[in-house]
Amino acid sequence: MSKIAEIKSSFEAEVKSCVKISEVQDMKVKYLGKSGELTALLKEIKNLPSEERPVFGAKVNELRNFIENELQEKLFKVKELEMQEKLQNEKIDVSLTSVKPWGALHPITLVENEICNLMIAMGFEVASGPEIETDYYNFQALNIPEDHPARDMQDTFYITDIILLRTHTSPMQARLMEKKQPPIKMICPGKVFRSDSDASHSPVFHQIEGLVVDKNVTLRDLKGTLEYIASHLFGSNTKVRFRPSFFPFTEPSVEVDLTCSNCGGKGCSLCKGTGWIEVLGAGMVNPYVLENSGIDSGKYNGYAFGMGVERIAIIKYGIPDIRLFYENDKRFLKQFVK
Ligand code: DAH
Repeated sequence: MSKIAEIKSSFEAEVKSCVKISEVQDMKVKYLGKSGELTALLKEIKNLPSEERPVFGAKVNELRNFIENELQEKLFKVKELEMQEKLQNEKIDVSLTSVKPWGALHPITLVENEICNLMIAMGFEVASGPEIETDYYNFQALNIPEDHPARDMQDTFYITDIILLRTHTSPMQARLMEKKQPPIKMICPGKVFRSDSDASHSPVFHQIEGLVVDKNVTLRDLKGTLEYIASHLFGSNTKVRFRPSFFPFTEPSVEVDLTCSNCGGKGCSLCKGTGWIEVLGAGMVNPYVLENSGIDSGKYNGYAFGMGVERIAIIKYGIPDIRLFYENDKRFLKQFVK
């Protein structure tokens, strides 16, 4: 009996000083385990006279229950303590000062905004449309039928046979004309995609499409509009020149050149000695395109143009490689902050 009291008091002292889960677990082994103190005590039972055995057995069981309960309770408390300690240690000090974030408008955005604002001032509305486009809008509605060689002008990323990443912003012409009858005077800036990559081509780049549909629209209206933009972007001495070209969606079609902003038309390395730089494609909207989108080509006509934003930015800022726009190098980007 004195041994029972002894174990109890040593257990009580020991359990008090426990502060870790592992210590409680060790105590469980020490007191209740197979080779633990209580098991050893029970083994003594055979040495007792038979009348004392039930009382002894009951006392040992009582102590076992007591130890079990105490350890259970202790485990609960210790877990709570460890959790609190963990929370305390892993606390995040939100008062620490962070690195100051830096941001500014990207040069492509700057040029896009500049052009859009000029167009808005001339009464154009701005619209946007899907970058994932159907073969119909990207090609067929624009008078480029399936298997037509004109499809080779644009290296297309196909998603399925009839779904693709738009190769130009021109599909917006058809989308706008389907929705709205003339007068139409709109621009559509956005991303376009082509399977092409080198110092002057990027698989993703930006275009701004322009479309005017009304009565008696002429190539001179187009030229006047482009002269206005060119003089604001590159200076009032900038001249605009049309050269005959071909696009399936315009008839007649033109390539538009500006006098070189670098040499003023004398000839330099930027303009390869010609004094002119090609900036965009344009023309009078092909009557087939008007009819495809539900506009009476006997009554209305129009002009359209598509310009590359990177191309304009490259000329404006003298940038040697188109890939600089997409590398997000702060040293490059910081140069455009006013
Ligand atoms: N979509 C043509 C391209 O990406 C550019 C273009 C040419 C757009 C003539 C036009 C246009 O609206 O009239 O190569």
